[in-house]
Amino acid sequence: MPSPLHPRTQLSTESIFATMSRLAAQFGAINLGQGFPSNPPPDFLLAAARKAIGVFDQYTAPIGLFKLREALAEDLSVDIDQVVITCGGTEALHALAQALYGPGDEVVILEPYFDVYLPDAKLAGATPVLVPMKLEGGWRLDLEALERNISSRTRALLINSPNNPTGTIFSKSELERIVSLAKERDLWIISDEVYDELYFSGAPLSLRRLAPERTFTVGSAGKRLEATGWRVGWILTPAGLAPTLAGMRQWSSFCSPAPLQAAVAEALPFARQTGYYQTLREGYKKRRDLLASGLRALGFEVFLPQSTYFLTARKPGLEAETLVKDAKVAAIPGRAFYEQHPAPDGLMRFAFCKTENELTRAIERLDAYLKTAR
Ligand SMILES: Cc1ncc(COP(=O)(O)O)c(C=O)c1O
Repeated sequence: MPSPLHPRTQLSTESIFATMSRLAAQFGAINLGQGFPSNPPPDFLLAAARKAIGVFDQYTAPIGLFKLREALAEDLSVDIDQVVITCGGTEALHALAQALYGPGDEVVILEPYFDVYLPDAKLAGATPVLVPMKLEGGWRLDLEALERNISSRTRALLINSPNNPTGTIFSKSELERIVSLAKERDLWIISDEVYDELYFSGAPLSLRRLAPERTFTVGSAGKRLEATGWRVGWILTPAGLAPTLAGMRQWSSFCSPAPLQAAVAEALPFARQTGYYQTLREGYKKRRDLLASGLRALGFEVFLPQSTYFLTARKPGLEAETLVKDAKVAAIPGRAFYEQHPAPDGLMRFAFCKTENELTRAIERLDAYLKTAR
C-alpha cells in the first residue's frame, strides 16, 4: 500500500455548492443553489469567441493577452502595467494568497464568506480569522469586530464588496475605515469585486480608489458577461507588482484560454458602449424582486440584496437539505458560509440568475411544500 496523500488533501472534499447541484439533479429540483446563469452569454461575446478560435490558439504570456489587458486598463481606468489576467477570479484569489501570506500569518475575512477564501488561506499555510457580519433586519459590517480581530500576525484584509452571499455593497465611509485600519496596521487589502457591474441602486466604490498602493482588486469576465465556465478573470495590482503576480499564477494554469481572452478583449468595450451592463442589471433587478416577493409571501424574512445575483432569506426551522428532496428546490444552506461562528437559524442563499419561469416554479413548489409540511 503506498503511503497516504498529504494531509492538505483534507481540503479536497466536495463543496456544498457541488453537493447541492448534485442533489438538485438527483431529485429533479430547480437549482437556485450554485451561482451560474441559466441564460446563454450575449451573442456579441459568442461571436467574438468563434472568430478568435483558429487565430489565438497558443499560450499567451502568463500576465495575459496584451489586447485584453489594454481593454481592461481602459474599462477600469488603470495603468496597463497593473493588469494581470487569470483563470477566473478563483485563480486570482489563489495566486494572491500564495503571494501575500504563509505559515504564522493571519488573514482577516468576513463571515459569511465566499467558500474559496478559506482553503486558499489554508493551502498557503496561513490562518483565516473570521469576523461575522451582523444580521439585524439586514446585513451590517461590524467594523469594531474587524478592528478587534487584527493582530500583529495579520498580513491582509480580504474584503468582498459587492458581497456574496449577502448582496451588500459597503458604503464609502465603511471602506474608508477599512483603508485607515489597513494603513495604521500596514496590511494588504484583497478586494474581491467580481460583481462590480451587478448593482441595483448606487454603483459600488472600488477600494483601490482609496488605497491604490496596497489594494489588489479581483475581477471576473465570467460574472460580467454571463460566461462563468470561460475562466477569464483578472487582478489589478499596486504599481510594480503585476510581474510578480503573473509569475505566481504561471505555476498553476500558466495562462487563461487564449481565444477566450481575445473574445473578452473585444466584448468589454462593446458591452460598455452599448449599455449591456445596464440591461443586465435591469433584468436581474426584475428577477430579484420576483423572488423576494415570492419568498416574503411564503413567510421568509428576506434580506433584499443591493447587488450580485444572490438573495439571502431566513425561515427558522427550514433546512436546505430537506427542501431539495421534498420541495424540489435547491438553495445553499447558510452554514456553508460560516466556519467559526454559528449561521443564523434557517438562513439560505437563493441564486436568481435563473429564468423567470424557473423562479416562479420554484416559488410554487415551495408554496406547495410548505402547505403540506404545516
Ligand atoms: C465573491 C466571489 N469571488 C470570486 C468568485 C470566483 O469567480 P470566477 O467564477 O471568475 O472564478 C466568485 C464566484 O462565484 C464569487 O462569488
